[in-house]
Amino acid sequence: MLNVKLWEARTRIFAWYLGLSAILVGLSIPVFTQLAILQVDQRVREDLKEELDAFEKFSQEDSDQDIKLIFDRFLQYKIPADKTFLIATINGKFYRSSPISLPQAISGDSSLITDLAQTTSPIRGKNLVIDPQVGDIIYKAEPIKTDGHSQGVLIVANIAQGERKEVISAMIIAIEVLVITFFLALILAWKVAGTVLKPVRTLINTANIISDKDLTQRIPVRGQGEMAELAQTFNNMMNRLEVAFRSQRQLLNDASHELRTPITIVRGHLELLEYDDSQEVAETIPLVLDELDRMSRLIEDLLVLARSERRDFLILKSVDLDDFTRKMYRKMQGLGERQWQLDSTGEGTIKIDRDRIVQAMMNLAHNAVKYTTSKDTIALGSSIDEKHIYFWIRDTGIGIPLEDQKKIFCRFVRSSNNQNTTKGIGLGLSIVSAIARSHNGRVELFSQVDKGSTFKIILPKNPEP
Ligand SMILES: Nc1ncnc2c1ncn2[C@@H]1O[C@H](COP(=O)(O)OP(=O)(O)O)[C@@H](O)[C@H]1O
Ligand SMILES: [Mg+2]
Repeated sequence: MLNVKLWEARTRIFAWYLGLSAILVGLSIPVFTQLAILQVDQRVREDLKEELDAFEKFSQEDSDQDIKLIFDRFLQYKIPADKTFLIATINGKFYRSSPISLPQAISGDSSLITDLAQTTSPIRGKNLVIDPQVGDIIYKAEPIKTDGHSQGVLIVANIAQGERKEVISAMIIAIEVLVITFFLALILAWKVAGTVLKPVRTLINTANIISDKDLTQRIPVRGQGEMAELAQTFNNMMNRLEVAFRSQRQLLNDASHELRTPITIVRGHLELLEYDDSQEVAETIPLVLDELDRMSRLIEDLLVLARSERRDFLILKSVDLDDFTRKMYRKMQGLGERQWQLDSTGEGTIKIDRDRIVQAMMNLAHNAVKYTTSKDTIALGSSIDEKHIYFWIRDTGIGIPLEDQKKIFCRFVRSSNNQNTTKGIGLGLSIVSAIARSHNGRVELFSQVDKGSTFKIILPKNPEP
C-alpha cells in the first residue's frame, strides 16, 4: 500500500512535469512563429521604404516635370530586390512595372493594384492571397504629386512567400527538435523522479522491517541533500530509540533480578519460622520488615530511574541558590553525627527541579555518611559562574579506587571499598547522574583512597536544551 503511494508521488511529479512542459512547448511554438514572421515583415517593410526613398531621391534629382518620363527613367534604372515589385500607375491606370512580368495577384488589372492606383495619400498594408506561390503581399503605395496634383502612384509590393517559407521551414525543424527533446525529457523526468524517490522507498522498506525486536536496521546514507539528510535523521532517531529500548530492557532485567533477592530472603525466613515460638517470631518480624523496606526503596529508586528518561521528569522552578543550599545543609545534618561544614553558597536565582536536586544531594550526603566515621568531615557547597551551577559534597572518608570511579555510576554497581561492610543496592549514584543528565548536566568525581571523595554536580544555568 505504501508502495502504491510512492508510485502516486512519482506519477504526480511526472504528471506535473508533463503538464507544465506541454503548456510551455504549446505556447512557445505559436509565439516563436509569430515573432519570426513579424521580424520578416519588419525587414520587408524596411526594404519597401528604401525603394520608395530611392524614388524620392531620384525624382528630386530629375528636373523633368513629366511623371511618365520620371517613371520611365526610374523603372529602367531600378531593379528591385528579389520578390519585390515596383509598379507605377498614372491617372488610376497601370503604366509600367519593374520587373515587367508580375504575379497574377499584383498584375496591372488585379483588384489590389486598381484600388491602390486611386489613392491620394500614402497607404501601407498586407494582403493575404490564396495562391500559395505568392503568400502574403506586403505593399506600400505612394501618390506622386507634381504641381500639387496627384498624377500617379508608385506601388512597391513584396510577395513574402520566399522568406516566409524559410521561416516556416525553420520553425518546422525547431518544432521537430522541440518535440523530440520534449519526449526525451519526459523519459528522463520519469527516471529522475524514480531516482529521487528511491531513498524514500528504502526508508519505507526499512521502517517496515524495524520492529521492537530488531532495532539494528539502518538506512544507507548516500550523497548529500535532503534525502541523505532524511536518511541521516531517521538513523539518528533509530539510534536514540535503540539506546532507550536497550536501557529500558536492561532496567527491567536488573529490577527483576534485584527484587528476587529480598523476596527469597523473606520467603526463607517465613518458611523456617516456628510460629509457636514467640521469641523467634519477634526476631523474624523486624528482619522481614527490613527486607520489605528494602524492596519498596528499590522500587522507588527504579521508578525514578525509569521516569528520568521521560520529558516531563523535571518540574523547573526558580530557586534562590544561597537559601536553597542552606536549607539542604540543615536537612543533611540529620543524617548522622559528623563534622558537618558549609564550604560556600552561590548567590543568585537559578532554574532547577528543586526536589530532584535535593534528592540527588541527599543521596550523595547519605553515601558520605556511610563511608565516613564520626570524626570525619563532610562539607556541602554551591557556587555559580557565567554558564554553570555547581553543587558538591566533600568527605574525608575511605575514598574510591580509581578503577571503580567510573563504574559506580552504573546501576547496581558498588565499589570494592565497601563490600559487605555497608548496606546498599548500588542505585544511589545512578539516580544522581540521571537527575544531573535530565538537567543537561553531569556529575564529576574526585577521590583518593583513604583521603576522601568529592562528588560535584555541574548544571548548565539554562537547563533547557
Ligand atoms: N562518599 C563515598 N565514599 C566512598 N565510596 C563511595 C562514596 N559514595 C559512593 N561510594 C561507592 O560507590 C558505590 C555506589 O554508590 P551508590 O550508587 O550510592 O550505591 P550504594 O550506596 O547503594 O552502595 C558505593 O557502593 C560505594 O562503593
Ligand atoms: Mg548510595
